[in-house]
Amino acid sequence: MLEIKQNYSLKDLNTFGIAAKAKFFVVVRTIDELKEALQSEEAKGISIFILGGGSNMLLTKDLDYFVIKLDLQDFEITSENERIAIVRAGAGFVWHDFVLKTLDRSLFGLENLSLIPGSVGACPIQNIGAYGVEIKDTMYQLEALNLDTLEIEIFSNSQCKFDYRESVFKSELKGKYVIINVSFQLSKTPDLKMEYGAIKSELEALNITVPTPKDVSTAIINIRSSKLPDPNKIGNSGSFFKNPVISNTIFAPLLKKHPQIAHYKVDDNHTKLAAGWLIDQCGWKGKTINNSYGVHKKQALVLVNYGGASGKEIFDLSSDIIQSVKDTFGVALTREVNIY
Ligand code: EPU
Repeated sequence: MLEIKQNYSLKDLNTFGIAAKAKFFVVVRTIDELKEALQSEEAKGISIFILGGGSNMLLTKDLDYFVIKLDLQDFEITSENERIAIVRAGAGFVWHDFVLKTLDRSLFGLENLSLIPGSVGACPIQNIGAYGVEIKDTMYQLEALNLDTLEIEIFSNSQCKFDYRESVFKSELKGKYVIINVSFQLSKTPDLKMEYGAIKSELEALNITVPTPKDVSTAIINIRSSKLPDPNKIGNSGSFFKNPVISNTIFAPLLKKHPQIAHYKVDDNHTKLAAGWLIDQCGWKGKTINNSYGVHKKQALVLVNYGGASGKEIFDLSSDIIQSVKDTFGVALTREVNIY
């Protein structure tokens, strides 16, 4: 029997630690329980909201929704040969625990995505990425429940239409499917990606000359822990903004005016700017408001809730930052975090 709760506080279920409430709330542990919840009285005439790790959202008000927390925890190697294995994990699996488990089984490809907060089911929605690797590089397929038909459908990698922090589940299919598991094609031989300078210098600091994927994972855990706030200690949702991609016709005069501007080539016509650098230059880094929320001291891309802030206050701060970057550099930042 499902235990559906009313006016349930989501404070401990979103990494920003915002004290918003859900009109209805339930935890489901199986696909049958998920279907039962979707067909319950409470689900009638109300929007469904699927909650994963709560690590990429900002709640600016109480949710007049039926919030369903997925606790699907299966882990299985569904096929393998001498070279590769297909590994499937339930949507509720904590992402970082999943990465460590694949490394323990000597399956490689996810090591650069160590310590990203959130759940396996949420990771394809925004094609999570870090240190030169994105989910789209290894995701094999996923299974998702169609909310209209309650049938399970399979999405291949290309059907997910991945892009930088984007997928079909964030755009045309938003709110139409519940991802229930994700499969990855992982390699049995390491193929280390260490182009990010910080990885090599961290491995050197650890006195490792011939690194294994586990060593790269450890180096990334160290780098992330030194720059990004631990959501268990300080409320945050990782990068709050996307790194903006602009055309080179706009970039050329900007570079002339600001020769130090942090940037990366995207293709022959586009350049990606580091939002953290732009925000930092506008003087926001480390700014704290009312002793309760602000911009992280070590990474200007991350907004933090030291405790007690409302989602609306953090949202308003993000609007002020967008305005000031626009005024200073003429560049429009967009939020990476989902706002509710
Ligand atoms: N920078 C500053 N000041 C800051 C922050 C950054 O000057 O306060 C400069 C850095 O010196 C560097 C550049 O901006 O020259 C880029 O910074 P960094 O390498 O830290 O990476 P990022 O672009 O800020 C992105 C991802 C992160 C991911 C890292 C590492 C986005 C929006 N963010 O950050 O992802 O961990 O690269 O790959 O793409 C996340 O999505 O939640 C996230 C943390």
